[in-house]
This record gives sequence, structure tokens and C-alpha cells, in this order.
Amino acid sequence: MKFFLDTANLEELRKGADWGIVDGVTTNPSLIAKEGIPIEDQIRRICAIVDGDISAEVVATKYEEMVGEARQLARLHKNVVVKVPLTRDGIKTTAQLSKEGIRFNVTLCFSAGQAILAAKAGATYVSPFVGRLDDIAQDGMELIRQICTIYKNYGFGTQVLAASLRSPLHVAQAALAGAHVGTLPFKVLDQLFNHPLTDKGLDQFLKDYAKAFQETAAR
Ligand code: G3P
Repeated sequence: MKFFLDTANLEELRKGADWGIVDGVTTNPSLIAKEGIPIEDQIRRICAIVDGDISAEVVATKYEEMVGEARQLARLHKNVVVKVPLTRDGIKTTAQLSKEGIRFNVTLCFSAGQAILAAKAGATYVSPFVGRLDDIAQDGMELIRQICTIYKNYGFGTQVLAASLRSPLHVAQAALAGAHVGTLPFKVLDQLFNHPLTDKGLDQFLKDYAKAFQETAAR
């Protein structure tokens, strides 16, 4: 499973990249807005920190403008993957520009049927939102399982990018379901390290070691 960081914050990206386990980045207009820097500048900075696929999302909603924005974003860096919403215009843009070699992440996917559209359009990634389905009392993880099964049934090359993951449990469940990628807020990536028995075990190892050698030195 590839790990992407779901943030546009450079400090979080530097910390994550420093651990050596971050394979890419996803952003969206809300995350870019939070940083207060125009998308093109921020995406260039992100590309300089993380060497992997970087999703940059269009804000146009109409096909003609979306195509223009997609081309502009794709030109920023070879690692940019253009993110478009799962709408008629988004799917049409994906189908059209995929033929030119531009890579797409089709986002805001909430049903298995929608995920089939993304695959048929030639998207590199589809982003089903787990947490937002859970928020409305639907089973977000079941959607990941369904899409993985359907893509396997037909040999679709589109990768399932599990998004809106809110906890370490979500990450493990998405991996079990077969998601190719999980995109994690920095907080969730950080939480993945934690286990009380790891802390307890390490504490004991160090105490035993120190005690043995202190005793040896005292003899
Ligand atoms: O990548 C999509 C993700 O940012 C959505 O997460 O927690 O806002 O539903 P959330």
C-alpha cells in the first residue's frame, strides 16, 4: 500500500518525508486555501519536498475551463496528477486528456458505479471518501471493498486511493480491503506509530540493559 499525505502544509510534508515512508501527496482546494498561497506556487514547493505523485485539483466546473486548468496544472511538474471531481465534466476531461498522457485522480467518489466511470475514462487514481460516508451513517469501507473487487474483475488499471481516512484503524481496514493507496492527514500518519506495548517494551529493554551494565561496572 502506498502512503500519500493529505495536506498542503509544507512543515507536515517535510516531517513526513523525513520518515522515508511517504510516496506522494494529495491536496484539494480546501487544503490549499488553508495555506493561503496560490495553488501553482504551493504545488511547486510540494514537488520539491516529496518525490512522488502530487495531486493538484482544478476549481473549474465546466469542461472547457477544466481542460485549460488541467493542462496548466500538469505543466507544473512531471509528478503532478490532476484532480477532478466525479462529475460529467470531470469524467469528460479525464477521458479526453488521458489520451495526451496527462494523469488524473478522480475525486469525490461515493459509489461503486461512479468508480466504474473513473476507470473507463482512464483515470490513474479514483478517490472514494471513506470518512464522509461514515459521517452519514453509510459504510465507507464497504465502498473500498466493492471498488477493489470490480476493478479486479475487469482488470482496470485505475488505482483505488482511499481518502477521507480519519484513524489508524481506517488505514489498516483500507489496506485489508486492497486499496492501492491510502491518503492520510499528517495526524493519522503520526498516530500509526503509537502502541502502548511498544513504549512499555522499549522502556523495559533499556532498563534491563542499563541495570546489567551498571552492575557490571560496579563490580
Ligand atoms: O482527500 C480527501 C480528504 O481530504 C477528505 O477528508 O476528512 O475532509 O473528509 P475529510
